[in-house]
Amino acid sequence: MAEPPTEARRAFLATLTAALGAAAGALALIPGLGFLAGPLKRATIRGADQPLRVASDREVQPGKPVRVIAVGQRDDAWLRLDHVTLGSCWLVRSTEIAPVRAFSTVCPHLGCGVDWNEKTGKFDCPCHASSFDLEGRCLSGPSPRGLDELDVHADGHDLLVRYQRFRNGTPKKEPIG
Ligand code: FES
Repeated sequence: MAEPPTEARRAFLATLTAALGAAAGALALIPGLGFLAGPLKRATIRGADQPLRVASDREVQPGKPVRVIAVGQRDDAWLRLDHVTLGSCWLVRSTEIAPVRAFSTVCPHLGCGVDWNEKTGKFDCPCHASSFDLEGRCLSGPSPRGLDELDVHADGHDLLVRYQRFRNGTPKKEPIG
């Protein structure tokens, strides 16, 4: 005949039952935590995935770069924001029949905004005096590469740009974000 459990055995069994219950509860939470944390792994959309309309091709005259703003959508872990300014770019046409090209306004040296200098016909960076020609090539200054060209295509008269940012301070053009 079995002996009745002692107080110590009862306490041990109660502790063991509680521990097993807690472990089972924790296991049940894991899928839920994964669901909640999942968006943290999702890449933030910065306009590279979707072409954004920035201008009409009629606005871009040969030799007269036009600065435009890329307005798109930004996702963070749990929030989606519409009509967010993602950045800006220069639209450039070298001749009447040449296609429009787009260059990021972000200087590849340390990220200042480059301006178009009508007098010299060059893009100048006000921070450390890098300068670039109409084709985006670096002419002088500490910039390790030319201006970052962005994908642009025409849909009728609309110009659409895939806006991206790139790592500063490196000779190689590396997308970030
Ligand atoms: S940030 Fe443009 S030259 Fe330094």
